[in-house]
Amino acid sequence: MTRDPRAASTSPRDFLGIESLAPGELETLLDRAEALLPAAMGQVRSEPKLAGRVVANIFFEDSTRTRVSFEIAAKRLGAEVVNLGASGSSASKGETLVDTARNIEAMGVDAIVVRTSISGGAALVAQHVDRPVINAGDGRHEHPTQALLDALALRLRLGSLAGKRIAIVGDIANSRVARSAAHAFVRLGAEVIAVGPPSLIPVGFDAIAKGPGKVSITHDIDGILGDLDAIMTLRIQLERAAGGGIAPDYRAGFGLTSERRAKLKPGTPILHPGPVNRGVEIDDAVADDVADSVILKQVSCGVAARMAVLLRAIAD
Ligand code: CP
Repeated sequence: MTRDPRAASTSPRDFLGIESLAPGELETLLDRAEALLPAAMGQVRSEPKLAGRVVANIFFEDSTRTRVSFEIAAKRLGAEVVNLGASGSSASKGETLVDTARNIEAMGVDAIVVRTSISGGAALVAQHVDRPVINAGDGRHEHPTQALLDALALRLRLGSLAGKRIAIVGDIANSRVARSAAHAFVRLGAEVIAVGPPSLIPVGFDAIAKGPGKVSITHDIDGILGDLDAIMTLRIQLERAAGGGIAPDYRAGFGLTSERRAKLKPGTPILHPGPVNRGVEIDDAVADDVADSVILKQVSCGVAARMAVLLRAIAD
C-alpha cells in the first residue's frame, strides 16, 4: 500500500542525507562497510541476506559508478535488481519522478534507489512511497553514499579522520558530493577546507556542518597544500552551472597539477569522486599515481558502502 501523500513523512530506513543521520549511524555504517569490503570485492562469499528481495534503481540522471555499484552491492547480497533511466522509461513522456516511484513500488519492490537532478527529490519520493528510499544523488543537495565511501577510503588510509585537515577543491557550489562529504568529515572530527574561486563557493558553506570538526574556506590553494592530510578535487558540474563553461585559467588557478602535488606532504591521499575531467581539475599523472591516488579505491569502497546501506534499508 502506498503511503498517504498527505502524511509526507519519511522512514528511519530511508537514507536521504548524511545531515539527517542520527548520532552514531555514520560510524556504524562505516564499520559495517569496512567489514563488508572483502565480500564487496568478491574475495569471500557474502551472506545472501537480501535473497528474494528486489531493489529498484531509478536513475533519472546519468551514472557509471553509483548505479553499477548499487547493482553489484545488491547482487552480492542476493537481491534482484531492476534498473530504470529517464531515457527508455515513461519519464520521457512526462511522467513525474514521484509517479514513477509509486508505480515501481506498486510492483512490490523492497527498496528504491533514486538519482535525480531535483534537489530534495529523494526525500520527495520517500514522502510518497512506503518502501525504503536511498538517495543516490539529488541535484545540488546530497550524495550520501558517496560521502560514506569517501570516508571509508580515507579511514583505510589515515586510520581516523579526527583532527585531520581535508581540502575539497573546486566547484563546491554545484556539488552534492562536497555537501555530503562536509557533513560526514565534520561529524568524524575533521577540518574540511573548501577551496575554490569565490564564484564556486557558496556564502555560508563554512557553517553547513555540525560536529566535532569544522569547515573553513580559502581561495588560495597554494597556501594550504603543505599542511593537508588529504585532498579531494571536484569536477566542474557543467550540467548544473548557470551558463558558461570551464574558465580557461581554472587549471592554473585550482587544478591539482603535478607541480602542486609535489607540495603535498609525502603520502597525502588524493581523492576524486569521478567522473574525472583529466587536465582540468587534476592532471593525468596525479590521478593515476599508484602510491597516493585513491580514486579507484574509492570506487571499490562504494560497493561495500552501498551493501551496508542496503542492509540498513531492508535487512536490519
Ligand atoms: N561519483 C559519482 O556519483 O559517479 P557517477 O555519476 O558515475 O555515479
